[in-house]
Amino acid sequence: MTTASASTPTRTRDEIIALDKRLIWRPYTRMDTYIRDTQPVVARAASGIYIDDMDGTRYIDGNGSWWTNIVGHNHPHLMAALVESSRRLTHCTFAGITHEGAVALAEKLLPLLGPSFARLFFSDNGSTAVEVAVRMAYQYWRNVGRPQKCRFVTFEGAFHGETLGCASVSGVPVFHAALGDLVFDAVRLPSPARCAEAEHPDDALAETFRAAEQLLQERADEIAAVIIEPLIQGAAGMLMYPPHYLKRLAALCRQQDVLLIVDEVFTGYGRTGAFLAQHQAEINADITCLAKGFSGGVLPMAATAVSQRVFDAFLGSAEKTLWYGHSFTGNPLGCAVSLATLEVIQDQDLVAKSHAAGQRLQQRLDVLAKRFSFVRAPRRYGLVGAFTLSFGDDARSNDYLDDAGWRFYAAAKQHGALLRPLGNVVYFVLPLTITPAEVDALGDIVERALATAFPQAI
Ligand SMILES: Cc1ncc(COP(=O)(O)O)c(C=O)c1O
Repeated sequence: MTTASASTPTRTRDEIIALDKRLIWRPYTRMDTYIRDTQPVVARAASGIYIDDMDGTRYIDGNGSWWTNIVGHNHPHLMAALVESSRRLTHCTFAGITHEGAVALAEKLLPLLGPSFARLFFSDNGSTAVEVAVRMAYQYWRNVGRPQKCRFVTFEGAFHGETLGCASVSGVPVFHAALGDLVFDAVRLPSPARCAEAEHPDDALAETFRAAEQLLQERADEIAAVIIEPLIQGAAGMLMYPPHYLKRLAALCRQQDVLLIVDEVFTGYGRTGAFLAQHQAEINADITCLAKGFSGGVLPMAATAVSQRVFDAFLGSAEKTLWYGHSFTGNPLGCAVSLATLEVIQDQDLVAKSHAAGQRLQQRLDVLAKRFSFVRAPRRYGLVGAFTLSFGDDARSNDYLDDAGWRFYAAAKQHGALLRPLGNVVYFVLPLTITPAEVDALGDIVERALATAFPQAI
């Protein structure tokens, strides 16, 4: 009998792919065409910005493994923390038991989030971090005696995760269209991030804000919370909007006594150039969701941070308690690696240091837009960059080929980078540790891949 383990592979690459295609149901994947056509990467190892295939090919992980990689794959400090914790304590329930890793993490993180955050609630991924936030906001108003404030306001194009609560407050139709009435009804505002595409972006943004203002002025009595992705609507296509919109929205929520949930699952931990994207708008939300980079992208670990006001509303009786949790809440390995992530970010001043690589990314985006007429709307915050592939007169349309993003993906893979697109949007989510030289290496690959994928359009 052969015993299989990930560290000592006993199968060939082809055998692994065959088994994968026979036994596994993949995320966000059309399975019939995957099984028929796709040759997946078979990861053997990862370090820094790279993922190594079993066949010896090294790829730049240009999307940061679904936006999780924040300090480089297999960072030695994170690995050491993981090994050390695994020798002592891998898991215990977080009900009735606590441990040093959890309190050390909370003690280090809360001040970095900002003065209004008083408590952390741990869970295990971005969706649960948001699900907790939605439940907290809903129950908050019941607990303070205003149960009629029970509706949620979200934005067109928002993405907050995959549980039914998250899907209800999301607005990217492709992901949740199949759910029909299974999700609850949220109130949807026009997206501030879409305004960049308008002929007069500033006017469009002002108009969009007026819609928010009108809604809250008229209906604050029935609204529990507004939930928003700060500065970037990620899944909608890395659509970006200016901090002042968020700042005004926060003031509006405060004025109308509506809770503000800022979902930093993607943007947190320095992605956009500050530790939290909301810091760029000089605000602190009532509730903030953290995941992905929270554990350095190493383990499923997340947190929902709340203000004292929110926490206090859950005190005083059994009925007011948040009867919610998960088996792996506060997992010791997750806490250890999350604390190590913060240590690396803080001790090495990574957020500030990452600005040089961010600027190089901007330069490369500008060059691409100059060289290729079909590279439109180059945009960036911190180490998140994107452009839209568009072959018509209208920068929003994609009349050349609907599968342009995937054509690009195939060419980029051939040249050595993994850059899964969002429709016709090509984007980059890079770790804070990336160097300007590595950004250049990626930029060179992207240039070659665009020329390979669209020769007739050059
Ligand atoms: C803003 C935002 N919130 C929540 C989620 C859900 O996170 P997870 O995939 O870890 O459940 C995502 C995922 O991309 C996200 O971008």
